[in-house]
Amino acid sequence: MESRQYFDTVAPQWDNLRIGFFSEAVREKAFTVAGVEPGRLAADIGAGAGFVTEGLLERGLRVIAIDLSAAMLAEMKRKFGEGGAVEYRIGEAESLPLEDSSVDYVFANMYLHHVDSPPAAIREMARILKPGGRLAITDLDRHDYDFLRTEHCDRWMGFDRPDVARWLTEAGLVDVEIDCVGENCCAASQSGCGNASVSIFVASGTLP
Ligand SMILES: C[S@@+](CC[C@H](N)C(=O)[O-])C[C@H]1O[C@@H](n2cnc3c(N)ncnc32)[C@H](O)[C@@H]1O
Repeated sequence: MESRQYFDTVAPQWDNLRIGFFSEAVREKAFTVAGVEPGRLAADIGAGAGFVTEGLLERGLRVIAIDLSAAMLAEMKRKFGEGGAVEYRIGEAESLPLEDSSVDYVFANMYLHHVDSPPAAIREMARILKPGGRLAITDLDRHDYDFLRTEHCDRWMGFDRPDVARWLTEAGLVDVEIDCVGENCCAASQSGCGNASVSIFVASGTLP
C-alpha cells in the first residue's frame, strides 16, 4: 500500500493509535529545543491529525499544517475548525506549498521516515524558514523492526543521528544539535512479528 492510501485509511483512528506509539513529551521536547514563542507562525509538516499543531495552538502560535493525506487534514479541521489559527494545505515533501522564508518554526514529527528522500525533505523545510527560524525534527533512531515497513508503511528503518545532522548542515542550517527525546516509540505487530520499541531523537538547527 502506498503512503497516501495508508494514511487516508488510518486517519480516523490516528489519534488513538498515536497514544499507543508515543506521548506528548515528544512534542514538548521539540518545542523546548525550538524555543517557541507565542504569536509566531509555525509549519507542521506531515501534520497528520494535528498532534504537533494542537500543542502549538495551546502555546499561542499560528500554524500552517501540511500533509499529503486529505483524510488526515479533514480530521484536523474537525478538531480545530476553519478560519482560526490553523491553515490547512495538502502538500508533498519535496514541493511544500509555502513561499521561501515564510515561517518562524518548522516541526516534523514521525514524518521523515516516510518520505522518499530525507535530505531533500530537509532542504525543503529549510527553504521555508525565515532567517533566524528554527527547525525541529523528531523521529526514530535506526532500528531493525521490519514489520514497521510492511504494517505501518514506513519507508526508512529509522536514521543514524550523524546522517541527520549532516543533512541539516547541508541544508544551510547552523547550531545543529541532535538530542534524545527520552522516550521510545512503541508498536505491536498485528501479524505476530513482535513488539517494536525504538528510541526517538530530536534534531534542531537555525537558518542564519
Ligand atoms: C506517522 S504520521 C505522523 C503524523 C503527526 N506528525 C503525528 O505526530 O501524529 C506521518 C504523516 O506524514 C504524512 N506524510 C507521509 N509522507 C509524506 C510526504 N511525502 N509528504 C507529505 N506528507 C507526508 C502522512 O500522511 C502522515 O499524516
